[in-house]
Amino acid sequence: MSITVEQLHPLFAGQVTGVDLREPLDDATITEIDTAISRLGVLVFPGQFITDAQQMDFSRRFGDLETTVKLYRKDYTPRLDPHISDVSNLDENNHIRGKDDRLRLNALGNRLWHSDSSFKRVPARFSLLSARAIPSEGGETQFADMRAAWDVLPDRTKARLDGLICEHTQLFSRGKIGFTDWSDEERVKMAPVPQVLVRTHPGSGRQSLYLSSHAGRIRGMEEPEARMLLLDLTEHATQEKFVYTHRWTIGDLVMWDNRCTMHRAREYNETQVRDMHRTTVSDGRPTVAEAA
Ligand code: OGA
Ligand code: MN
Repeated sequence: MSITVEQLHPLFAGQVTGVDLREPLDDATITEIDTAISRLGVLVFPGQFITDAQQMDFSRRFGDLETTVKLYRKDYTPRLDPHISDVSNLDENNHIRGKDDRLRLNALGNRLWHSDSSFKRVPARFSLLSARAIPSEGGETQFADMRAAWDVLPDRTKARLDGLICEHTQLFSRGKIGFTDWSDEERVKMAPVPQVLVRTHPGSGRQSLYLSSHAGRIRGMEEPEARMLLLDLTEHATQEKFVYTHRWTIGDLVMWDNRCTMHRAREYNETQVRDMHRTTVSDGRPTVAEAA
């Protein structure tokens, strides 16, 4: 099978047709997809009405799947398989979560620019998000090309950033929206993890900024200075010219490379159902080990 890839933005992101993700795919097709995502960072597969099991099978062709963090399990009865991240506004009875629901408030953090699981020592490589129900307007997902953002930095800035190590935790990202309601036990589990600030993509050889809302400290730097630098870099990297906005249609499956892109969710009318299922392929090793 040979896929067709059509670029969606001058810098990155492509739409892929000519493949049915419900079917077992041959190795050549998986290689074609892998090559396309190395080049484009984000791939949109329209018209893929797949089940969770089919989504997991397809995702596993690219590596081991993450399981959802146990962290919230105390007040959380999962609706879905542990290998599926529930990116919906629904509770375990498929009712829309209330305004003050803790899981809903935590999920609002997805509207900050981030890279998935950068708060884990071994972060996410690919995320695959499937649209099962969408609101009538809003709820887009935006992506930013962190390679393009890196490329245009002045050489002296590049030299200053290369080799820096950041600390990431959800305490930083959720703290930014005033969500600080964590138990002591949760805080221990959310201890910061190190991540390099500049990465080289093994597939494309391109360097990129590795930023995320979860980043809050830089080793060897005073905290306000580190925070300011991270804010400035994030503002730089998410300028309109680096951003592709995906407007969802039911059946879309969007796959992105967390090593070289950031993304965020956009606001929508939460009286309507938005049901998205995500599988996440682990990057296999810590970024500090990859860089060494
Ligand atoms: C995610 C995510 C954004 C969205 O699934 O990792 O950040 O638009 N989703 O739901
Ligand atoms: Mn995300």
